[in-house]
Amino acid sequence: MKNSPKPLSSNPHLITWVEKIAALCKPDAIHWVDGSQAEYDALCAQMVASGTFIKLNEKKWPGCFLARSDASDVARVEDRTFICSLSKDAAGPTNNWVNPFEMRKTLKGLFDGCMKGRTMYVLPYSMGPIGSPMSQIGVELTDSPYVVVNMRIMARIGAEVFKLIDKDFKRVVPCVHSVGAPLAPGQKDVVWPCNKEKYIVHFPETREIWSFGSGYGGNALLGKKCFALRIASAMARDEGWMAEHMLILGVENPKGEKTYVAAAFPSACGKTNFAMLIPPPHFQQQGWKVWTVGDDIAWIKPDANGRLRAINPEAGFFGVAPGTGDHTNPNAMKALAKNTIFTNVALTDDGGVWWEGMTKEAPAHAIDWKGNDWTPALGKEKGVTAAHANARFTAPAKQCPTIDPAWEDPEGVPIHAIIFGGRRATTMPLVFQAFNWSSGVYIGATMGSEMTAAAAGTIGKVRRDPMAMLPFCGYNMGDYFRHWINMQKGLSETPRVFHVNWFRKDKDGKFMWPGFSENMRVLKWIVDRVRAGGKAKETPIGWVPRYRDIEWDGLDFPEEKFDELQHFDREAWKAEVLGQGELFFDLHATLPKELIFERELLMCRMG
Ligand code: OXD
Ligand code: MN
Repeated sequence: MKNSPKPLSSNPHLITWVEKIAALCKPDAIHWVDGSQAEYDALCAQMVASGTFIKLNEKKWPGCFLARSDASDVARVEDRTFICSLSKDAAGPTNNWVNPFEMRKTLKGLFDGCMKGRTMYVLPYSMGPIGSPMSQIGVELTDSPYVVVNMRIMARIGAEVFKLIDKDFKRVVPCVHSVGAPLAPGQKDVVWPCNKEKYIVHFPETREIWSFGSGYGGNALLGKKCFALRIASAMARDEGWMAEHMLILGVENPKGEKTYVAAAFPSACGKTNFAMLIPPPHFQQQGWKVWTVGDDIAWIKPDANGRLRAINPEAGFFGVAPGTGDHTNPNAMKALAKNTIFTNVALTDDGGVWWEGMTKEAPAHAIDWKGNDWTPALGKEKGVTAAHANARFTAPAKQCPTIDPAWEDPEGVPIHAIIFGGRRATTMPLVFQAFNWSSGVYIGATMGSEMTAAAAGTIGKVRRDPMAMLPFCGYNMGDYFRHWINMQKGLSETPRVFHVNWFRKDKDGKFMWPGFSENMRVLKWIVDRVRAGGKAKETPIGWVPRYRDIEWDGLDFPEEKFDELQHFDREAWKAEVLGQGELFFDLHATLPKELIFERELLMCRMG
């Protein structure tokens, strides 16, 4: 190897493993990542020189860069994502499973020499604040400098993590990542190296991650979906905590009391917007505030007093850019205004970025995410978008104006309520509250979202996505439901569970609820129910607010419309319960009996 500098860690296990992987992958050089600003700047400059990064206009977008990926490497690849537990049953019917011995053979072949001509970065990271008892450590060996700089925003990385690894010999989750594009001597690199063949592989028993062929997002920034959800969910089951695909927010009332809620919504249902909600003016005048702890992942654990507390294991937002603008999420716009890496958005003529939904007016000309000239006419006449639909911003969480002062509290924040939600044009009311924990688990286990034109499948068909974890649960989904049921047994106080739906439509196909800031009205009812004995009415599906139980000041929303929005439609619910049964059929071998009983009870109540 041309360049193999002194390791930044003294942990012999780590050093031996790095040597072993280097012997397999055969990189030209090894770089131990110290996580410093100087190192970040040098890597960004190196990527500007190689064409992977475009430096944006420093005056308008300070510290920001744009990357354009290969057109074949633009999203998570669920069909190439594997949970290689020892038995197929341990992975369950909702995961792709391959025998781990077979998979190891395949990976050995794929990774042999895969880093030739490249540098292998040794990237230590902490998911969760450094030193928090709820945090976990990983080390990602990667041949992608793009991954290193994105991970510096999304996690805590570098020297301080090596210190932890050396001090306690703390268990580390080993992660190996390669874009799968070795370079022959003298071969010129492309701006976005990747491989047509992709493997995102998890070994839950040995807590290992191997990722090959992609440089993009959740496929490559291994701390996020691979560790903080798939591997962490398996750890959490074994250790009595929960790793969930949830945002965390705090609602502050006019007395300055805070109520924290965690909320699970499938992708494209507005998690980031909800996490950064700005209350309507009337609420602001009264002193209501919403604080952001996280927008995607929550690690939740009972404390010594049996109360659930949660941390956001991430340090940044890897948010979907299209649809994010000053009119929909001004807090996100402020968070991404500097020190942000954009991927697959459009480049404007003044060296800035743009995407559909950022502003009402599109720029007269831009370079689209593929590097081609783009005009609004192309969008209108040919449907060519300036940004890819899954274009992203990687922005530091601390830049969000509503970041909660306690967002890095090592003990986490107390969780008072859990909210499930989906995108449902019919059937699901704006909000209802579960009767108790097991009915709440049932609601989460059966939640779904209607498919949009963007995804393959029948438009409007409900895809069941239990707890929004379908692509992220690292083990059998039926066992995961059992873990949820069991969690409550050790608690001194059970969080209340709610279901929301911002997307119900009227007979003319129009959204009935204005959403965004106005969701504060629903949040206030939830907080009232949790903290202040707020009023509600019983229905077959759960507790619902009456019109008078919601704060309406500042919004003209007639009672009849609210009744329609909250309407319990018995026929639609019959179809819903039958639909919920489909998932239960697939999971029958491991489904907890509580959920079978909950379904029976629901049917009995429906008459
Ligand atoms: C994400 C996702 O990127 O859920 O957060 O796909
Ligand atoms: Mn997500």
